[in-house]
Amino acid sequence: MSDDKNNSGFYITTPIYYVNDVPHIGHAYTTIACDALARWHRMRGDLTRFLTGTDEHGQKIEAAAEHRGTTPIELCDEVVQNFKRLWGALGISNDDFIRTTEERHVRVARQLFKTLMESGNIYKGLYEGWYCIPCETYVPEAQVSDDGLCPDCGRPLSRMSEESYFFRLSKYQDALARHYEEHPDAIMPRARYNEVMSFIKGGLQDLSVSRTTLKWGIPVPGDENHVVYVWLDALINYISALNYPVAGEKWETYWPHVRHIVGKDIIRFHAVIWPAILMATGLNPPVRVFAHGWWTVDGDKMSKSKGNVVDPFEMADVYGADAFRYFLLREVPFGLDGDFSESAMVNRINSDLANDLGNLLNRTLQMIEKYRGGKLPPASVFDRAKDIDIALGDLSARTLAEMDSRMEDFSLDGALKTLWALVGAGNKYIDETSPWKLGREDPDDRLDIVLRTLWETLNISAMLIYPFMPGTSAHIQEQLGAPLDMSAELLSNWSWGGRGGDVFVKKGRVLFPRIDVTKWKEEKSARDAAKTAVMETLEVAPAAEESGRFEQIEIADFKKLEIRVGLIESAEVVEKARKLYKLGVDLGSEKRVIVSSIRDFFTREELVGKRILVLCNLKPVKFRGIESDGMLLAAEADDGGREIISLATVDDGFPIGSLIH
Ligand code: MSP
Repeated sequence: MSDDKNNSGFYITTPIYYVNDVPHIGHAYTTIACDALARWHRMRGDLTRFLTGTDEHGQKIEAAAEHRGTTPIELCDEVVQNFKRLWGALGISNDDFIRTTEERHVRVARQLFKTLMESGNIYKGLYEGWYCIPCETYVPEAQVSDDGLCPDCGRPLSRMSEESYFFRLSKYQDALARHYEEHPDAIMPRARYNEVMSFIKGGLQDLSVSRTTLKWGIPVPGDENHVVYVWLDALINYISALNYPVAGEKWETYWPHVRHIVGKDIIRFHAVIWPAILMATGLNPPVRVFAHGWWTVDGDKMSKSKGNVVDPFEMADVYGADAFRYFLLREVPFGLDGDFSESAMVNRINSDLANDLGNLLNRTLQMIEKYRGGKLPPASVFDRAKDIDIALGDLSARTLAEMDSRMEDFSLDGALKTLWALVGAGNKYIDETSPWKLGREDPDDRLDIVLRTLWETLNISAMLIYPFMPGTSAHIQEQLGAPLDMSAELLSNWSWGGRGGDVFVKKGRVLFPRIDVTKWKEEKSARDAAKTAVMETLEVAPAAEESGRFEQIEIADFKKLEIRVGLIESAEVVEKARKLYKLGVDLGSEKRVIVSSIRDFFTREELVGKRILVLCNLKPVKFRGIESDGMLLAAEADDGGREIISLATVDDGFPIGSLIH
């Protein structure tokens, strides 16, 4: 095992997730990666703590709650359950789950803010800038166009200034640069280290750390018109969950060994702002901030409007949590961007899991059952081991050491590759020793040694696989007839042939049945069709791709569509449906009710009075018990990761009910 000077404690954290969204593959990825690392360190015997949680304050949550017609805390209480359920479904072993609305967090955040004010690291000043009133946000100078419009919504910006508290980030520029020069592993991978270093060296400005434009946040101590900037509030979770500043075992054991895993988009918050705050507080900066890459889906950016957001619940349900975990961690070098596709996952399940691992297990157990009635030959047979047997024992020991060093570097894919080399060697060993021939004629009494060698290889594989696929590990252990004591310091206690006493294997169900690709394709098209149907009824059609992609149609086909001008007369929020409005639309000759999922994009006031285009002869469908009779037409696009929508309208005063040709 690698000689890690810090191996007494290991504190690993995920970012805390915003609760204005449903959990997706990005959230699942970071959390699964942290889980694998935490489980590995527990197996090493390190004092391990794994934290995740939710980021519940701020404007996004306030706005999402308003759209839904609920209070922010009601929204948080509801949505946080999605995350908790998902971590259960994915086998996540977090030791704590922090919510920034919890009293234990609010208390620490206020206290830290106060201490920083008292030490002069936070001061009151004037924040001046271009503000977009509808978006309720300041727009950085560099993004303001010559005509002074908001880059997000295109509406005019106002020059605003307000009181704000500032953190003296500029004061820590040199200390940060020095720290990273001395600790080049404190930001990984290297590309991110370079990015952060050049950002720091480019000059740091003091940071506004309070807001007066929203209410949903932690009040600044002594000045309750201000709330703490949501990013500062969020970062503090990493110490509030350890009960800072209460000196105690939790704090002292874990804080000196803290490692943060984050997506590459939020590296600066973690590798610039957060360490500076910690330095200002007199605390050690994180031992490491590791930024992983982003997933695209089937080569495309993931977006709600494209309907390609990967639902981790669905993946765990269809393929099993362990196969999903394995795929995410194995497919892409940790730290780089990657592409997710179910077909790539099916390939990996069939080749790595069903074929390599599954075969090694099945063939070995079958032979122990057939030739030895299920009883494992004793380790004493190794007295007569040949080079080929010893080589597999040596490779096992090297695999353990190499995986440990890969895990130290957070190379999760590298660790899995190393393990699969051992699994491959196990299969090759079967081919080379041909135990089925020995079963018939075995003058040298080799069969016992071969069977025990294979069993040992599987036994160590079951242990090493545990951090990545905990359920699979348990199944293999059970079938091998020798469950491991997961609370022991497994990695240092392991030895080849170390298991004494009588052991009986029991072949159970096949771990990873081979997926029949033809059947899978049919099943997947059915799942996709069901999703498209839901999307269409929610009026969010898949994005139009380059021309030529669509089939050509006859004019008669187009004429089947009855599209008319309608006037939106009313817009009501649909209870318990986050995105829906119930619209009253006048079509001239009749009035209709249309339910539309455009609440994220328009206020009720913006809709009422608009003359829009309505597809009138669409079969009615029910949403939340309300029949929707027709569909609004709209253009939809992805504006740098943000979904935008524009309703198809006609000029003011244009006659209602007119037909579109
Ligand atoms: N609340 C902040 C974090 C505060 S931590 C003190 C936040 N939350 S988030 O929910 O928006 O994002 C959480 C994580 O999901 C980020 O690390 C982000 O990089 C990650 N991902 C979001 N989309 C992703 C992909 N498509 N692929 C991989 N990870 C992605 O930011």
